[in-house]
Amino acid sequence: MRTLTLAKAGLNKLRSHQLELKASDFDDSVKPLPPGEWCFFTSTSGECWVGFVNPLIDEKFACAHVLEALPSGAVGTFSPEVFIRGRLVRAFERRRRFTGYEANARMFYGASDGLPGLLVDVFSNAAIIQINTAGIDRYRELIRPVVEELASVEGFFLDNPKYREKESLPTYSERAFPELAVQENGLRFQIRPEVLQKVGFYYDHRENRLHLMNFLGRLAKRPARALDLFSYAGAWGLSALRSGVDEAVFVDQGDFGVEVEAALRLNGLEGKGRFVRGDVFRFLDDSLKENQRFDLILCDPPAFAKSSLQKHQALDGYSKLHRKVLRMLSSGGLVAFSSCTQCVGHAEFQKNIAEAAQKEGRSLQLVYAGLQGFDHPVPSLEDRANYIKSYFYIVE
Ligand SMILES: C[S@@+](CC[C@H](N)C(=O)[O-])C[C@H]1O[C@@H](n2cnc3c(N)ncnc32)[C@H](O)[C@@H]1O
Repeated sequence: MRTLTLAKAGLNKLRSHQLELKASDFDDSVKPLPPGEWCFFTSTSGECWVGFVNPLIDEKFACAHVLEALPSGAVGTFSPEVFIRGRLVRAFERRRRFTGYEANARMFYGASDGLPGLLVDVFSNAAIIQINTAGIDRYRELIRPVVEELASVEGFFLDNPKYREKESLPTYSERAFPELAVQENGLRFQIRPEVLQKVGFYYDHRENRLHLMNFLGRLAKRPARALDLFSYAGAWGLSALRSGVDEAVFVDQGDFGVEVEAALRLNGLEGKGRFVRGDVFRFLDDSLKENQRFDLILCDPPAFAKSSLQKHQALDGYSKLHRKVLRMLSSGGLVAFSSCTQCVGHAEFQKNIAEAAQKEGRSLQLVYAGLQGFDHPVPSLEDRANYIKSYFYIVE
């Protein structure tokens, strides 16, 4: 493995635990290195870190991911293969601390688990592996068998061209996926391979959906009609039905009618739900014209901004959505507002909801504030890997 000498700026970043470096953070040029090269990064005072570099990344952005500080003496014996295996084993062990996360979970969550660009989602019958950095892509064929051994299911790559092209990585064709069998909080789902989105299942809200079930179970009077907006396979609405809600309407623009029907059938809830394919904003406008009301609304939209440059636009989108949802909610009803927009923080999201309620003349009682599940580990609210927010309100 090669050694790159850190410039003062790079050294300062590493000393303050910033683990992404630009080309200008090195005294040596990164240009001659092949994409994804694993290197040692050293200071003139003898400190050493290990990481990987991709010189094909635009100079404005980080081209190096730093993985770990190495004690002097470890350099001679360092092996990327042993390191990657160790990180995978540790990540699986971390999930297995919690009941409910032994299988059917995000078993590897990128930099939070120590390998930036690697995501592993495990289902009852398959593991889906996504790789978005050149440094990890080099070890594709090492990672698959390790995942298969740890998860005891077959592993499949799901290359996402959107992320891979930033690293100039090709997209490989893969053998056909099976229909995914998913279990979460005692509920079962089935997802056809042709509708698989960038993830097979949105495990990130597991704890929030579990809380929804507990909360509904504690209400003196269960809501009768639920609306699951941006439903995908129906995980939120199914959680409500399982907790005694009478009926649910699921709305998504994607082709998920088969998934929602399968979930109703697999969980013994046939006849209690209906899937509507269409745009949520239009559905809300049409239903408001028809004077429809729901006692429970579950609102889990896609990310409204890709970067903080679009934050203003995202907040506008939330504002419109939250106002329409509040208009549809019957008095005394429960709403779960969720967000996966990373650049919108908890305080901003709550403020957006409070302002929407004020404009609609509704009063709110906040009854729950939730984060992402334990299989999406983060060290703090401010961390970049922390993106999920979920707030439940009783609305009058
Ligand atoms: C974050 S995912 C929802 C995940 C889902 N609630 C779950 O827990 O499994 C966002 C979903 O919104 C859908 N979507 C995006 N924009 C939409 C729109 N304008 N109207 C309806 N559905 C939309 C996508 O198809 C996707 O299924």
